[in-house]
Amino acid sequence: MVLVGVVLVAGEGTRLRPLTYTLPKPLIPVMGKPLIVRAIENLRDSGISDFHVVVGHLGFLFRQTLGDGSGLGVRVRYVEQGERLGIAHAIHRAIEEGANGELVVYLGDNYFGEGVGGFVREFREGGYDVYIVLTKHRDSTRFGNAIVSDGRVVRLIEKPREPPPNSYVVTGIYMFRDPDDVERAFKTLKPSARGEYEITELIQWFIDNNRRVGYTVTNGWWKDTGTPQDMLDLVYLMLDAVETRIEGEVRGMVNGRVIIERDAVVEGVVHGPAYVGRGSVVGKDSVIEHYVDVEANVTINGGTMSRSLILNDARLELGRARVVDSIIGPRSAVRLEKGRHTLIIGEGNLIMSTDWA
Ligand code: G1P
Repeated sequence: MVLVGVVLVAGEGTRLRPLTYTLPKPLIPVMGKPLIVRAIENLRDSGISDFHVVVGHLGFLFRQTLGDGSGLGVRVRYVEQGERLGIAHAIHRAIEEGANGELVVYLGDNYFGEGVGGFVREFREGGYDVYIVLTKHRDSTRFGNAIVSDGRVVRLIEKPREPPPNSYVVTGIYMFRDPDDVERAFKTLKPSARGEYEITELIQWFIDNNRRVGYTVTNGWWKDTGTPQDMLDLVYLMLDAVETRIEGEVRGMVNGRVIIERDAVVEGVVHGPAYVGRGSVVGKDSVIEHYVDVEANVTINGGTMSRSLILNDARLELGRARVVDSIIGPRSAVRLEKGRHTLIIGEGNLIMSTDWA
């Protein structure tokens, strides 16, 4: 049977507002590439060429970015999930609209450091009906939990109040051998307290009906980019893997592992690990400290920055200010004079300290 990718991106990303009012989480770029593009490339390299992308919130932006998929060497079709009825419902919608084959379901805001190729291979080689990827997490009550006993998954619980003993967190990749089984399972579900058809309950049906449920526990890093801090953590993890590549112009100084993309200009100082995207300018009085990701066409003058993500076309006039742990939305302008600032701002905002008024 052919493998079919089902990528879920309908969510509103409420905990990442105001950024997600105009930019859905999976479209946030890290080191020059939206997360969903990395995900699809990774799934493609695992042997999937046929994708159903389930959209809802700002769906047209996914169509703009991915088109028919040919730019990535795959086929992408779009499925609308009109209401936010949960992951199990989104999978059901994809099947309704023709997703047919062995399904590899991927939550568009998840990122697996080791890639997903190994998981897909184990799923196929093991001949499982369902396959899930588990991990340990310090805050397991934010996720689905899986209780494992004698090497078998015996129970799944969505966001338990207390972490159950012998449990793992369920990550955002789920594989199903037979879409007809998924539909059978879905028909038995009722919306949960948060009004969603839960993926954990869908998979519980497979356990209760003696289907073969495979799993692995990954020690590789995994991120679900729900909150600004999660998003920044992902940026740090990805910057950790930077190998120096300088295609832009360095008139000032770079230090450590940095990527300076084409048409970028560094007049000031950039300490790695750091990324400076296409067409961006780091002015001569600016110091970029480690773990900063500057996307495309950004202008920075003055100030120091550390541990931050600056999105496309932002303009920062920082004077003697220091900006840390911040996410600056696309096309926003920030003018500061002095002091230490942490800003999480959306698209097209103007932030000005009173010293400028
Ligand atoms: C969803 C699932 C949860 C899973 C998590 C992984 O949570 O419901 O079981 O652990 O994704 O990212 P949500 O993102 O809907 O809070």
